[in-house]
Amino acid sequence: MSRKILVTSALPNANGPIHLGHMLEHIQTDIWVRFQRMRGNDVYYVCADDTHGTATMIRAEEEGLSPEALIDQMRVDHLTDFSGFGIVYDNYHTTHSEENRHFSELIYERLKARELIFTEEVEQLYDPEKELFLADRFVVGECPRCDEPDQYGDNCEKCSATYNATELKNPRSAYTGAVPELRSSEHYFFDLPQYTEFLREWTRSDAVQAEVTNKLSEWLDDGLRAWDISRDAPYFGFVIPGSQDKYFYVWMDAPIGYMASFQNYCDRTDNVSFDEFWTSTSDHEVHHFIGKDIINFHALFWPAVLRGADFRTPTRIHTHGFVTINGTKMSKSRGTFIMASDYLNHLNPEYLRYYYAAKLNGSSDDIDINLADFVQRVNSDLVGKVINIASRCAGFIVKQFDGKLANETHDESLWQEIIASSDTIADLYEIDDTSKAVREITRLADLANQYIATHEPWNLVKDQSSRNHLHLVCSQAINMYRALVIYLKPILPEVAEKSEAFLNVSPLTWADLHSPLFGHKITKFKAIMQRMEGKVVNKLVSPHGDQASTTPEQDAKQTDQTGSGQGEFINIDDFSKVALKVAKIVDAELVEGADKLLRLTVDLGDHQRNIFSGIRAAYEPQALIGKLTVVVANLAPRKMRFGVSEGMVLAAGPGGEDIFLLSPDDGATPGMDVT
Ligand code: 2FM
Ligand code: ZN
Repeated sequence: MSRKILVTSALPNANGPIHLGHMLEHIQTDIWVRFQRMRGNDVYYVCADDTHGTATMIRAEEEGLSPEALIDQMRVDHLTDFSGFGIVYDNYHTTHSEENRHFSELIYERLKARELIFTEEVEQLYDPEKELFLADRFVVGECPRCDEPDQYGDNCEKCSATYNATELKNPRSAYTGAVPELRSSEHYFFDLPQYTEFLREWTRSDAVQAEVTNKLSEWLDDGLRAWDISRDAPYFGFVIPGSQDKYFYVWMDAPIGYMASFQNYCDRTDNVSFDEFWTSTSDHEVHHFIGKDIINFHALFWPAVLRGADFRTPTRIHTHGFVTINGTKMSKSRGTFIMASDYLNHLNPEYLRYYYAAKLNGSSDDIDINLADFVQRVNSDLVGKVINIASRCAGFIVKQFDGKLANETHDESLWQEIIASSDTIADLYEIDDTSKAVREITRLADLANQYIATHEPWNLVKDQSSRNHLHLVCSQAINMYRALVIYLKPILPEVAEKSEAFLNVSPLTWADLHSPLFGHKITKFKAIMQRMEGKVVNKLVSPHGDQASTTPEQDAKQTDQTGSGQGEFINIDDFSKVALKVAKIVDAELVEGADKLLRLTVDLGDHQRNIFSGIRAAYEPQALIGKLTVVVANLAPRKMRFGVSEGMVLAAGPGGEDIFLLSPDDGATPGMDVT
C-alpha cells in the first residue's frame, strides 16, 4: 500500500534572497520527495515564504515599499530561484495569507480554551526614535558584569555572562544609536513547561535524529520556560484575537504556514483533504526538513503547540547542518556568500544537486563545498563514469543495429549485481544518507565501465563475426546505464528526463529496474551533461562584499539588505546622499576573534568615532595612527559582533594585503568635506 506523505522545507524569510544555504535544504527535500514518488508513494510537497516580523517591516521601509509589495516580489524571486534548481513544490504559499490567519487564530483559541495561554507584563527596551521595542540582538551596550563595551543585549562575548538587555550599561539602539527607554507592556505566553514530559518522550522517538535528541535533552534538562508568543505594534503580522495591538510573534505563525500552504493546496486542487493529514488521529506522515539552527522551534515549540491544539504531531524532523565553502562559513567579504541566482548564471544546477547529494549523510554535520572536490566529483564520477556509459555504447546500437537493443542479457550475474543494490540504495534515500547511496551507485558505474573495457566494443565492431557479441555488450551497457539513471533520478531530474528521451521510454520508476529493455528501439544519443569548467566555478567566488563584514549574522543582514543587485547603477542623487569626510585615525587596534578587522578611532574634527575596517592584512595598527583618510560619515551605525561601527573607511585594492587606504593630500584637516 502506498504511503501518504506531506513534506515541507523550512519557509525562507521574505526579507532576503535565496542563497546556497537555502538550496541545500530544498535540494535535500526535493530529492527525498522525488524518491518517494518513484517508489509509488503519494507525496505532497508544500512550502511558503515566511513573511512576518520586524525585519520585513524595516526592509520594506528601506526600499520605500509596503510590506505586502515587498513580500509579493520576494515570493516571485524565490520561486524563480528554486525552480531554476529543479525544485518542484505542489504549493508555494505565503504566511501572510487568509489560511494562515485562520489556523493561527484557531490554534491560539484552542490553546487559550485549555488555559495554556497567559499574559504577563514584560519590561523591554524601546527605541524612541524608531518607535519600536528592541529585540535583544538590537541593543548594544556595556556588559553588566565585566564592563566590556559594545556587547549585545543577551550575552557578553568577553566574559560569557548571560543577562537581559535591560541590564546592559549605557545601552543604545542598533538601529538608530538612540538611548532606549525602558517600557513595560503586556505579553502573551504559551505554557510550554506543561509539555515537558510529552516532549521528553516525543524527542526520544524516531521523530528526530539521535544527535538532535541529545541536544534537545540538554534543553529539557535545563527546564523549559513559557514561550513569549506576542510582539507589540508596530509589527508586520496578525493581530492576536481579543487584543488591540498585540501581534503573533513570527515564530508562532511560521510553522503554522505549513498547514496553511497545505490547506491552500487542498482548496485549489481537490486532490486530498486537509483533515486526512492533520487530525490528531491521522496515520498519514508529515515530514519537515530544517537546518540545525531552528531545531528548538520545530522539535519543542511546534509539537507542543500542535498537541495543545489537538492536531497531529510531525512524523519526522529531518535536520541538516550548515553549508561551508572551502572549510569556512559562507561570507560576503570572502565572496563566498553565493546567491542562488548567481550560481544559476554560471553553472548547471544539477552539478550542485549531485554534489550536495554526494555529501549529505542524514546527520546534522555541516556540508562543505570544496570547489576543487566539486569539479572533480562532477567531472570524474558523474560525467566520466555514468554519463559516458551511454555515450560510449549508444552509437554502436544506433548505427549497427538500427537503434534496436538485443533480446537477452549478456552477463546475467553482473546484471543481477546491479539490481541487487536496489533495496540498499532505497533504504539510504529513505534515511537521507544520499552520500552512501551515491557511493554505491558509483561502485556500480565502475562495474559497468569495467565490463565495457573488458569487452572492448570498439574492437568488436571491426569484426563481422563478433556482431552478436557487440550487440549484446552494448545492449547490456545501455540497460546498466538505465538502471543507474533510475538510481540517480531523484537527484538528477534533468539528466533523467534527457535519458528517458534518449532511451525512448516513459518516465522511469523504481519498479522499472526489474524489467530491462529487450528488443526496444532507442534514439540517437545527444549530450546529456557536459563536464564542468573549473574556471567557471572560480568565478562564483570572488570578493565583492564589504570588507568589514565578519560575522554570519552580519553577512546575512548585509546580503539581505543589498539583495542581488550588485552592479546596479546609482544616479547622482543617490551619490549625493553619501557624506564623505576627511578623518584622522587617532587609534587603531586588533580585534580579538576577527582576523580581518581593525578597530579604528577616527577624529572628524568635532567628534570621534569607532569604525571597524577589514584592512588588517594590509596595515599594522601602529602604522595607521596619525594618518588621514576618507570616511563615509553618514552611514547608519551597524552592530557587529565586536561592537557598533559608526561609519566606513574607504580603501581600494584587490583585497588581502593589497588594500590601500584612500588618503587625502596634505593640507586636509579632519572634518573637511570630500568633494
Ligand atoms: O529560519 C528561517 O529562515 C525561518 N524563516 C524558517 C521558518 S520555518 C517554519 F517554521 F516556518
Ligand atoms: Zn562581560
